[in-house]
Amino acid sequence: MPDVSCPVCDADAAFLRTVTRPDYETIAPCVRIVDLFAGGGGLSLGMAEAARRVGHGTDVVLAVEKHRDAARVFAQNFPKAGVLEADVAGLFDGVVDAAPTAAETRLREQVGSVDVLLAGPPCQGHSDLNNHTRREDPRNDLYVRVARAAEVLQPTSVLVENVATIEHDRGAAVPRATAVLERAGYRVATSVLDLAELGVPQRRRRHILLASRHADVDPAAILFLRAACECAVPRTVRWAIGDLLDVGTGAGVDAASVPSPENLARMTWLIDHDEYDLPNVLRPKCHHAPHSYLSMYGRLRWDGPAQTITTGYGSMGQGRYVHPARARTITPHEAARLQTLPDFFDLLSSSVRSTWAHVIGNAVPPLLGVHLGVPLLRAMSANTTDAVLPSGGTDRGEALPSDTVDGTRGASSGSPPASNHYDSAAAADQVRSTLEQVRAGGRGRRRTRRRSAVR
Ligand SMILES: C[S@@+](CC[C@H](N)C(=O)[O-])C[C@H]1O[C@@H](n2cnc3c(N)ncnc32)[C@H](O)[C@@H]1O
Ligand SMILES: [Zn+2]
Repeated sequence: MPDVSCPVCDADAAFLRTVTRPDYETIAPCVRIVDLFAGGGGLSLGMAEAARRVGHGTDVVLAVEKHRDAARVFAQNFPKAGVLEADVAGLFDGVVDAAPTAAETRLREQVGSVDVLLAGPPCQGHSDLNNHTRREDPRNDLYVRVARAAEVLQPTSVLVENVATIEHDRGAAVPRATAVLERAGYRVATSVLDLAELGVPQRRRRHILLASRHADVDPAAILFLRAACECAVPRTVRWAIGDLLDVGTGAGVDAASVPSPENLARMTWLIDHDEYDLPNVLRPKCHHAPHSYLSMYGRLRWDGPAQTITTGYGSMGQGRYVHPARARTITPHEAARLQTLPDFFDLLSSSVRSTWAHVIGNAVPPLLGVHLGVPLLRAMSANTTDAVLPSGGTDRGEALPSDTVDGTRGASSGSPPASNHYDSAAAADQVRSTLEQVRAGGRGRRRTRRRSAVR
Protein backbone atom coordinates (compact mmCIF):
# COMPACT_ATOMS: atom_id res chain seq x y z
CA MET A 1 0.00 0.00 0.00
CA PRO A 2 1.20 3.58 -0.56
CA ASP A 3 2.34 5.43 2.59
CA VAL A 4 -0.35 8.01 1.99
CA SER A 5 -3.83 6.83 1.27
CA CYS A 6 -7.32 8.23 1.04
CA PRO A 7 -10.82 6.79 0.75
CA VAL A 8 -10.33 6.38 -3.01
CA CYS A 9 -7.02 4.53 -2.56
CA ASP A 10 -8.70 2.34 0.05
CA ALA A 11 -11.70 1.68 -2.21
CA ASP A 12 -9.40 0.75 -5.10
CA ALA A 13 -7.31 -1.59 -2.94
CA ALA A 14 -10.48 -3.22 -1.63
CA PHE A 15 -11.88 -3.53 -5.17
CA LEU A 16 -8.82 -5.50 -6.26
CA ARG A 17 -9.22 -7.97 -3.41
CA THR A 18 -12.97 -8.41 -3.51
CA VAL A 19 -13.84 -12.04 -4.11
CA THR A 20 -17.61 -11.72 -4.49
CA ARG A 21 -18.85 -9.80 -7.48
CA PRO A 22 -21.01 -6.81 -6.56
CA ASP A 23 -24.48 -7.14 -7.96
CA TYR A 24 -23.96 -4.39 -10.50
CA GLU A 25 -27.23 -5.03 -12.28
CA THR A 26 -29.70 -4.47 -9.46
CA ILE A 27 -29.01 -0.85 -8.51
CA ALA A 28 -31.36 1.76 -9.99
CA PRO A 29 -31.01 3.74 -12.16
CA CYS A 30 -29.00 1.66 -14.59
CA VAL A 31 -26.33 2.89 -16.97
CA ARG A 32 -27.03 1.25 -20.32
CA ILE A 33 -23.75 0.21 -21.91
CA VAL A 34 -22.70 -1.09 -25.31
CA ASP A 35 -19.13 -2.45 -25.43
CA LEU A 36 -17.46 -3.03 -28.80
CA PHE A 37 -14.27 -5.14 -29.07
CA ALA A 38 -15.29 -6.09 -25.56
CA GLY A 39 -12.59 -8.70 -24.79
CA GLY A 40 -13.23 -10.31 -21.43
CA GLY A 41 -14.84 -7.13 -20.11
CA GLY A 42 -12.16 -5.01 -18.42
CA LEU A 43 -13.56 -1.73 -19.67
CA SER A 44 -17.18 -2.66 -18.96
CA LEU A 45 -16.20 -3.75 -15.49
CA GLY A 46 -14.50 -0.42 -14.83
CA MET A 47 -17.60 1.46 -15.96
CA ALA A 48 -19.83 -0.83 -13.87
CA GLU A 49 -17.71 -0.12 -10.80
CA ALA A 50 -17.77 3.61 -11.57
CA ALA A 51 -21.56 3.42 -11.81
CA ARG A 52 -21.74 1.60 -8.48
CA ARG A 53 -19.58 4.27 -6.84
CA VAL A 54 -21.96 7.02 -7.98
CA GLY A 55 -25.05 5.04 -7.01
CA HIS A 56 -26.07 3.55 -10.35
CA GLY A 57 -26.43 0.05 -11.68
CA THR A 58 -25.22 -1.29 -14.99
CA ASP A 59 -26.94 -2.93 -17.89
CA VAL A 60 -24.62 -4.16 -20.65
CA VAL A 61 -27.21 -4.29 -23.39
CA LEU A 62 -24.71 -5.41 -26.00
CA ALA A 63 -21.09 -6.58 -25.94
CA VAL A 64 -19.43 -7.55 -29.23
CA GLU A 65 -16.25 -9.63 -29.33
CA LYS A 66 -15.12 -11.91 -32.13
CA HIS A 67 -12.72 -14.12 -30.16
CA ARG A 68 -14.88 -16.97 -28.91
CA ASP A 69 -13.12 -17.64 -25.63
CA ALA A 70 -12.82 -13.95 -24.77
CA ALA A 71 -16.57 -13.58 -25.43
CA ARG A 72 -17.19 -16.48 -23.07
CA VAL A 73 -15.15 -14.83 -20.35
CA PHE A 74 -17.21 -11.68 -20.87
CA ALA A 75 -20.45 -13.64 -20.58
CA GLN A 76 -19.19 -15.31 -17.44
CA ASN A 77 -18.45 -11.98 -15.84
CA PHE A 78 -21.61 -10.24 -17.06
CA PRO A 79 -24.17 -13.05 -16.98
CA LYS A 80 -27.07 -10.74 -17.80
CA ALA A 81 -25.34 -9.02 -20.73
CA GLY A 82 -26.21 -9.48 -24.39
CA VAL A 83 -22.90 -10.92 -25.55
CA LEU A 84 -22.39 -11.42 -29.24
CA GLU A 85 -19.49 -13.30 -30.75
CA ALA A 86 -19.24 -11.31 -33.95
CA ASP A 87 -17.22 -8.94 -36.10
CA VAL A 88 -17.98 -5.30 -35.24
CA ALA A 89 -17.38 -4.30 -38.86
CA GLY A 90 -20.08 -6.73 -39.96
CA LEU A 91 -22.64 -5.29 -37.55
CA PHE A 92 -21.98 -1.64 -38.36
CA ASP A 93 -21.70 -2.07 -42.10
CA GLY A 94 -22.76 1.35 -43.35
CA VAL A 95 -20.67 4.21 -44.67
CA VAL A 96 -20.06 7.06 -42.23
CA ASP A 97 -22.35 10.08 -42.62
CA ALA A 98 -24.81 7.96 -44.63
CA ALA A 99 -28.22 6.74 -43.50
CA PRO A 100 -28.20 3.50 -41.49
CA THR A 101 -28.29 0.28 -43.45
CA ALA A 102 -31.14 -2.15 -42.86
CA ALA A 103 -28.95 -4.18 -40.54
CA GLU A 104 -27.92 -1.11 -38.57
CA THR A 105 -31.50 0.07 -38.24
CA ARG A 106 -32.62 -3.29 -36.85
CA LEU A 107 -29.69 -3.37 -34.47
CA ARG A 108 -30.53 0.11 -33.20
CA GLU A 109 -34.15 -0.87 -32.62
CA GLN A 110 -33.13 -3.94 -30.66
CA VAL A 111 -30.49 -2.25 -28.56
CA GLY A 112 -32.61 0.77 -27.63
CA SER A 113 -31.22 3.73 -25.75
CA VAL A 114 -27.55 3.71 -24.85
CA ASP A 115 -25.92 5.85 -22.17
CA VAL A 116 -22.29 4.96 -22.79
CA LEU A 117 -20.67 3.34 -25.81
CA LEU A 118 -17.34 1.75 -24.86
CA ALA A 119 -14.77 0.51 -27.33
CA GLY A 120 -11.23 -0.83 -27.31
CA PRO A 121 -10.55 -1.49 -30.98
CA PRO A 122 -7.45 -3.52 -31.82
CA CYS A 123 -4.56 -1.56 -33.29
CA GLN A 124 -3.46 -3.83 -36.13
CA GLY A 125 -5.99 -2.30 -38.51
CA HIS A 126 -3.99 0.92 -38.57
CA SER A 127 -0.65 -0.41 -39.58
CA ASP A 128 -1.22 -1.55 -43.15
CA LEU A 129 -0.06 1.68 -44.75
CA ASN A 130 0.89 0.33 -48.15
CA ASN A 131 -2.48 -0.98 -49.05
CA HIS A 132 -4.35 2.05 -50.31
CA THR A 133 -7.61 0.29 -50.85
CA ARG A 134 -7.61 -1.02 -47.32
CA ARG A 135 -6.58 2.33 -45.89
CA GLU A 136 -9.20 4.30 -47.75
CA ASP A 137 -12.08 1.92 -47.26
CA PRO A 138 -13.86 3.12 -44.12
CA ARG A 139 -15.37 -0.32 -43.60
CA ASN A 140 -11.91 -1.68 -42.90
CA ASP A 141 -10.96 0.81 -40.28
CA LEU A 142 -12.11 -0.50 -36.96
CA TYR A 143 -11.43 2.72 -35.09
CA VAL A 144 -13.70 4.70 -37.40
CA ARG A 145 -16.27 1.88 -37.10
CA VAL A 146 -16.72 3.02 -33.50
CA ALA A 147 -17.74 6.48 -34.71
CA ARG A 148 -20.10 4.77 -37.14
CA ALA A 149 -21.56 2.79 -34.24
CA ALA A 150 -22.12 6.07 -32.40
CA GLU A 151 -23.93 7.50 -35.43
CA VAL A 152 -26.17 4.44 -35.46
CA LEU A 153 -26.79 3.90 -31.73
CA GLN A 154 -26.66 7.56 -30.66
CA PRO A 155 -25.26 6.93 -27.20
CA THR A 156 -25.07 9.89 -24.85
CA SER A 157 -21.32 9.42 -24.36
CA VAL A 158 -18.52 7.48 -26.04
CA LEU A 159 -15.24 6.26 -24.53
CA VAL A 160 -12.61 4.73 -26.81
CA GLU A 161 -9.29 3.32 -25.63
CA ASN A 162 -6.33 2.60 -27.88
CA VAL A 163 -2.56 2.39 -27.99
CA ALA A 164 -0.77 5.73 -27.72
CA THR A 165 0.69 5.37 -31.21
CA ILE A 166 -2.70 5.68 -32.83
CA GLU A 167 -2.08 9.43 -32.63
CA HIS A 168 0.44 8.98 -35.45
CA ASP A 169 -1.67 6.69 -37.56
CA ARG A 170 -1.09 7.72 -41.17
CA GLY A 171 -4.62 6.75 -41.98
CA ALA A 172 -5.69 9.57 -39.58
CA ALA A 173 -8.12 7.29 -37.74
CA VAL A 174 -8.52 9.62 -34.76
CA PRO A 175 -9.16 12.84 -36.71
CA ARG A 176 -11.58 11.00 -39.00
CA ALA A 177 -13.49 9.47 -36.10
CA THR A 178 -13.52 12.83 -34.32
CA ALA A 179 -14.94 14.57 -37.38
CA VAL A 180 -17.71 11.98 -37.71
CA LEU A 181 -18.61 12.35 -34.03
CA GLU A 182 -18.60 16.15 -34.18
CA ARG A 183 -20.89 16.12 -37.20
CA ALA A 184 -23.18 13.84 -35.18
CA GLY A 185 -23.39 16.46 -32.41
CA TYR A 186 -20.75 15.26 -29.95
CA ARG A 187 -18.16 17.30 -28.14
CA VAL A 188 -14.93 15.33 -28.46
CA ALA A 189 -11.65 15.37 -26.54
CA THR A 190 -8.62 13.14 -26.97
CA SER A 191 -5.51 12.66 -24.89
CA VAL A 192 -2.72 10.20 -24.21
CA LEU A 193 -2.95 9.27 -20.55
CA ASP A 194 -0.39 7.64 -18.31
CA LEU A 195 -2.53 5.08 -16.55
CA ALA A 196 -0.30 5.22 -13.48
CA GLU A 197 -1.91 8.63 -12.90
CA LEU A 198 -5.29 6.91 -12.90
CA GLY A 199 -4.29 4.54 -10.12
CA VAL A 200 -3.11 1.62 -12.27
CA PRO A 201 0.09 0.11 -10.79
CA GLN A 202 1.66 -0.08 -14.19
CA ARG A 203 3.43 1.99 -16.85
CA ARG A 204 0.82 1.99 -19.56
CA ARG A 205 0.26 4.94 -21.89
CA ARG A 206 -3.00 4.86 -23.71
CA HIS A 207 -4.88 7.08 -26.11
CA ILE A 208 -8.36 7.99 -24.94
CA LEU A 209 -11.16 9.55 -26.95
CA LEU A 210 -14.07 10.81 -24.88
CA ALA A 211 -17.15 12.25 -26.56
CA SER A 212 -20.51 13.35 -25.26
CA ARG A 213 -23.62 15.09 -26.43
CA HIS A 214 -24.81 15.62 -22.86
CA ALA A 215 -24.89 19.34 -22.09
CA ASP A 216 -23.28 18.85 -18.67
CA VAL A 217 -20.36 16.73 -19.83
CA ASP A 218 -17.13 18.47 -20.76
CA PRO A 219 -14.94 15.69 -22.17
CA ALA A 220 -11.79 17.81 -22.19
CA ALA A 221 -12.20 18.68 -18.50
CA ILE A 222 -12.63 14.99 -17.60
CA LEU A 223 -9.51 13.97 -19.51
CA PHE A 224 -7.60 16.91 -18.05
CA LEU A 225 -8.37 15.72 -14.49
CA ARG A 226 -6.34 12.54 -15.05
CA ALA A 227 -6.05 11.58 -11.41
CA ALA A 228 -7.52 8.75 -9.39
CA CYS A 229 -7.51 10.79 -6.18
CA GLU A 230 -6.02 13.84 -4.57
CA CYS A 231 -3.14 12.13 -2.79
CA ALA A 232 -1.78 11.13 -6.21
CA VAL A 233 0.59 8.48 -4.85
CA PRO A 234 1.56 6.07 -7.62
CA ARG A 235 0.46 2.56 -6.83
CA THR A 236 3.22 -0.01 -6.80
CA VAL A 237 3.67 -3.68 -7.59
CA ARG A 238 3.60 -4.32 -3.84
CA TRP A 239 0.26 -2.47 -3.57
CA ALA A 240 -1.21 -4.77 -6.19
CA ILE A 241 0.30 -8.19 -5.50
CA GLY A 242 2.22 -8.04 -2.20
CA ASP A 243 -0.35 -10.29 -0.55
CA LEU A 244 -0.03 -12.98 -3.24
CA LEU A 245 3.65 -13.68 -2.55
CA ASP A 246 3.40 -17.42 -2.11
CA VAL A 247 0.06 -18.04 -3.70
CA GLY A 248 2.02 -18.47 -6.94
CA THR A 249 3.00 -21.98 -6.01
CA GLY A 250 -0.65 -22.96 -6.41
CA ALA A 251 -2.62 -24.15 -9.36
CA GLY A 252 -4.70 -22.69 -12.19
CA VAL A 253 -4.51 -18.89 -12.30
CA ASP A 254 -2.16 -19.03 -9.31
CA ALA A 255 0.41 -21.16 -11.12
CA ALA A 256 3.30 -19.50 -12.92
CA SER A 257 4.14 -20.86 -16.34
CA VAL A 258 6.72 -23.63 -16.41
CA PRO A 259 10.07 -22.17 -17.52
CA SER A 260 12.77 -23.78 -19.62
CA PRO A 261 15.80 -24.89 -17.58
CA GLU A 262 17.75 -21.92 -19.03
CA ASN A 263 15.11 -19.41 -17.95
CA LEU A 264 14.81 -20.98 -14.51
CA ALA A 265 18.57 -20.52 -14.10
CA ARG A 266 18.27 -16.88 -15.24
CA MET A 267 15.44 -16.16 -12.78
CA THR A 268 17.31 -17.84 -9.95
CA TRP A 269 20.38 -15.74 -10.76
CA LEU A 270 18.36 -12.49 -10.59
CA ILE A 271 16.93 -13.38 -7.18
CA ASP A 272 20.16 -14.78 -5.72
CA HIS A 273 22.15 -11.73 -6.83
CA ASP A 274 19.41 -9.25 -6.02
CA GLU A 275 19.62 -7.86 -9.57
CA TYR A 276 16.84 -6.52 -11.75
CA ASP A 277 18.44 -6.63 -15.21
CA LEU A 278 20.07 -9.72 -16.66
CA PRO A 279 23.70 -9.21 -17.81
CA ASN A 280 24.46 -9.85 -21.47
CA VAL A 281 26.40 -12.97 -20.74
CA LEU A 282 23.27 -14.64 -19.38
CA ARG A 283 21.00 -13.54 -22.21
CA PRO A 284 20.43 -15.25 -25.53
CA LYS A 285 22.77 -13.68 -28.13
CA CYS A 286 19.99 -11.84 -29.94
CA HIS A 287 19.21 -9.96 -26.72
CA HIS A 288 22.72 -8.66 -26.06
CA ALA A 289 23.12 -4.91 -25.38
CA PRO A 290 23.33 -2.31 -26.71
CA HIS A 291 19.68 -2.78 -27.43
CA SER A 292 16.32 -1.50 -26.46
CA TYR A 293 15.29 -4.68 -24.70
CA LEU A 294 16.81 -4.05 -21.29
CA SER A 295 13.54 -4.87 -19.60
CA MET A 296 13.30 -8.25 -21.33
CA TYR A 297 14.48 -10.97 -18.94
CA GLY A 298 14.08 -8.40 -16.17
CA ARG A 299 12.72 -8.63 -12.65
CA LEU A 300 9.92 -6.43 -11.35
CA ARG A 301 10.54 -4.01 -8.47
CA TRP A 302 8.24 -4.06 -5.47
CA ASP A 303 8.26 -0.31 -5.03
CA GLY A 304 7.49 0.96 -8.49
CA PRO A 305 4.80 0.42 -11.06
CA ALA A 306 5.05 -2.68 -13.26
CA GLN A 307 6.07 -2.51 -16.87
CA THR A 308 3.13 -2.64 -19.31
CA ILE A 309 1.40 -5.99 -18.90
CA THR A 310 0.97 -7.63 -22.28
CA THR A 311 -0.20 -11.06 -23.37
CA GLY A 312 3.45 -12.15 -22.86
CA TYR A 313 3.47 -11.74 -19.06
CA GLY A 314 4.14 -15.48 -18.60
CA SER A 315 7.46 -15.40 -20.43
CA MET A 316 10.60 -13.70 -19.10
CA GLY A 317 11.82 -13.21 -22.67
CA GLN A 318 8.86 -10.96 -23.47
CA GLY A 319 9.30 -8.30 -20.83
CA ARG A 320 10.05 -7.51 -17.19
CA TYR A 321 7.84 -10.22 -15.82
CA VAL A 322 9.97 -12.01 -13.22
CA HIS A 323 8.41 -11.77 -9.75
CA PRO A 324 10.14 -9.30 -7.40
CA ALA A 325 10.95 -11.95 -4.80
CA ARG A 326 10.58 -15.38 -6.38
CA ALA A 327 12.34 -17.20 -9.20
CA ARG A 328 9.26 -17.39 -11.41
CA THR A 329 7.29 -15.19 -13.75
CA ILE A 330 4.12 -13.56 -12.47
CA THR A 331 1.04 -15.76 -12.42
CA PRO A 332 -2.17 -14.99 -14.37
CA HIS A 333 -3.68 -13.90 -11.04
CA GLU A 334 -0.84 -11.45 -10.39
CA ALA A 335 -0.94 -10.15 -13.97
CA ALA A 336 -4.70 -9.64 -13.57
CA ARG A 337 -4.14 -7.68 -10.33
CA LEU A 338 -1.53 -5.49 -12.06
CA GLN A 339 -4.15 -4.85 -14.73
CA THR A 340 -6.53 -4.03 -11.82
CA LEU A 341 -8.82 -6.92 -12.70
CA PRO A 342 -10.22 -7.84 -9.28
CA ASP A 343 -10.21 -11.24 -7.62
CA PHE A 344 -13.88 -11.78 -8.44
CA PHE A 345 -13.12 -11.44 -12.14
CA ASP A 346 -13.79 -14.94 -13.40
CA LEU A 347 -11.33 -16.44 -15.86
CA LEU A 348 -12.44 -19.97 -15.25
CA SER A 349 -14.89 -20.26 -18.11
CA SER A 350 -11.69 -21.08 -19.92
CA SER A 351 -8.86 -23.06 -18.43
CA VAL A 352 -6.70 -22.32 -21.45
CA ARG A 353 -3.67 -20.26 -20.50
CA SER A 354 -3.59 -18.55 -23.90
CA THR A 355 -7.15 -17.30 -23.33
CA TRP A 356 -6.16 -15.94 -19.94
CA ALA A 357 -3.22 -14.18 -21.60
CA HIS A 358 -5.50 -12.75 -24.31
CA VAL A 359 -8.08 -11.50 -21.84
CA ILE A 360 -5.65 -10.18 -19.21
CA GLY A 361 -3.03 -8.74 -21.54
CA ASN A 362 -5.55 -6.99 -23.77
CA ALA A 363 -7.82 -5.73 -20.99
CA VAL A 364 -8.41 -2.06 -20.47
CA PRO A 365 -7.56 -1.83 -16.75
CA PRO A 366 -10.85 -1.42 -14.87
CA LEU A 367 -9.41 1.42 -12.78
CA LEU A 368 -9.19 3.46 -15.99
CA GLY A 369 -12.91 2.94 -16.46
CA VAL A 370 -13.52 3.75 -12.80
CA HIS A 371 -11.60 7.01 -12.71
CA LEU A 372 -12.86 8.34 -16.02
CA GLY A 373 -16.29 6.86 -15.46
CA VAL A 374 -16.99 8.46 -12.08
CA PRO A 375 -16.72 12.09 -13.29
CA LEU A 376 -18.43 11.18 -16.56
CA LEU A 377 -21.42 9.51 -14.92
CA ARG A 378 -21.68 12.23 -12.27
CA ALA A 379 -21.95 14.84 -15.03
CA MET A 380 -24.41 12.71 -16.99
CA SER A 381 -26.58 12.39 -13.90
CA ALA A 382 -26.64 16.13 -13.31
CA ASN A 383 -30.20 16.67 -14.55
CA THR A 384 -31.79 13.58 -13.04
CA THR A 385 -34.69 15.48 -11.54
CA ASP A 386 -35.63 17.14 -14.84
CA ALA A 387 -35.36 14.12 -17.00
CA VAL A 388 -37.99 11.72 -18.19
CA LEU A 389 -36.62 8.23 -17.74
CA PRO A 390 -37.17 6.35 -20.97
CA SER A 391 -38.09 3.05 -19.38
CA GLY A 392 -40.24 4.40 -16.58
CA GLY A 393 -39.74 2.90 -13.11
CA THR A 394 -38.28 -0.56 -13.25
CA ASP A 395 -37.58 -3.18 -10.69
CA ARG A 396 -34.01 -3.70 -11.80
CA GLY A 397 -32.86 -0.30 -12.86
CA GLU A 398 -33.78 2.66 -14.96
CA ALA A 399 -31.79 4.10 -17.79
CA LEU A 400 -29.90 7.26 -16.96
CA PRO A 401 -31.51 10.46 -18.18
CA SER A 402 -30.02 11.10 -21.57
CA ASP A 403 -30.56 14.81 -22.01
CA THR A 404 -28.55 15.74 -25.02
CA VAL A 405 -27.16 18.85 -26.55
CA ASP A 406 -29.87 18.83 -29.18
CA GLY A 407 -32.54 18.24 -26.58
CA THR A 408 -33.49 14.74 -27.66
CA ARG A 409 -33.66 11.88 -25.19
CA GLY A 410 -32.97 8.22 -25.49
CA ALA A 411 -32.76 6.12 -28.61
CA SER A 412 -33.70 7.45 -31.96
CA SER A 413 -36.35 4.75 -32.20
CA GLY A 414 -38.15 6.99 -29.72
CA SER A 415 -40.81 4.61 -28.48
CA PRO A 416 -40.67 3.46 -24.89
CA PRO A 417 -40.68 -0.26 -24.14
CA ALA A 418 -44.13 -1.82 -24.03
CA SER A 419 -43.57 -2.95 -20.47
CA ASN A 420 -41.93 -0.97 -17.73
CA HIS A 421 -40.40 -4.17 -16.41
CA TYR A 422 -37.14 -4.50 -18.25
CA ASP A 423 -36.05 -8.10 -18.39
CA SER A 424 -32.40 -7.93 -19.36
CA ALA A 425 -31.96 -11.63 -20.05
CA ALA A 426 -34.98 -11.67 -22.35
CA ALA A 427 -33.81 -8.48 -24.03
CA ALA A 428 -30.36 -9.95 -24.54
CA ASP A 429 -31.87 -13.04 -26.13
CA GLN A 430 -33.99 -10.83 -28.34
CA VAL A 431 -30.96 -8.82 -29.43
CA ARG A 432 -29.11 -12.00 -30.26
CA SER A 433 -31.94 -13.53 -32.17
CA THR A 434 -32.49 -10.40 -34.24
CA LEU A 435 -28.80 -10.12 -34.93
CA GLU A 436 -28.79 -13.67 -36.13
CA GLN A 437 -31.61 -12.84 -38.51
CA VAL A 438 -29.68 -9.78 -39.67
CA ARG A 439 -26.68 -11.93 -40.39
CA ALA A 440 -28.69 -14.81 -41.78
CA GLY A 441 -27.81 -16.23 -45.09
CA GLY A 442 -24.22 -15.75 -44.20
CA ARG A 443 -21.34 -17.43 -42.73
CA GLY A 444 -22.55 -19.77 -40.05
CA ARG A 445 -24.34 -18.45 -37.03
CA ARG A 446 -22.51 -18.69 -33.78
CA ARG A 447 -23.94 -17.85 -30.43
CA THR A 448 -22.12 -17.24 -27.26
CA ARG A 449 -23.27 -19.74 -24.71
CA ARG A 450 -24.71 -18.16 -21.61
CA ARG A 451 -23.28 -19.17 -18.29
CA SER A 452 -25.37 -18.47 -15.29
CA ALA A 453 -22.99 -18.84 -12.39
CA VAL A 454 -20.46 -16.31 -11.27
CA ARG A 455 -17.69 -17.71 -9.15
C1 LIG B 1 -7.81 -4.30 -26.91
S1 LIG B 1 -8.82 -5.70 -26.84
C2 LIG B 1 -10.24 -5.06 -25.98
C3 LIG B 1 -10.20 -5.24 -24.51
C4 LIG B 1 -11.49 -4.97 -23.78
N1 LIG B 1 -11.99 -3.65 -24.06
C5 LIG B 1 -11.28 -5.13 -22.29
O1 LIG B 1 -11.22 -4.14 -21.60
O2 LIG B 1 -11.14 -6.27 -21.83
C6 LIG B 1 -9.47 -5.83 -28.48
C7 LIG B 1 -10.42 -6.98 -28.66
O3 LIG B 1 -11.04 -6.83 -29.94
C8 LIG B 1 -11.27 -8.12 -30.46
N2 LIG B 1 -11.47 -7.92 -31.90
C9 LIG B 1 -10.52 -7.70 -32.85
N3 LIG B 1 -11.11 -7.45 -34.05
C10 LIG B 1 -12.45 -7.52 -33.84
C11 LIG B 1 -13.58 -7.35 -34.70
N4 LIG B 1 -13.43 -7.04 -35.98
N5 LIG B 1 -14.82 -7.48 -34.16
C12 LIG B 1 -14.97 -7.80 -32.85
N6 LIG B 1 -13.94 -7.97 -31.99
C13 LIG B 1 -12.69 -7.83 -32.48
C14 LIG B 1 -10.05 -8.91 -30.05
O4 LIG B 1 -10.32 -10.31 -30.02
C15 LIG B 1 -9.76 -8.34 -28.66
O5 LIG B 1 -10.34 -9.14 -27.65
ZN1 LIG C 1 -5.59 8.43 -2.68
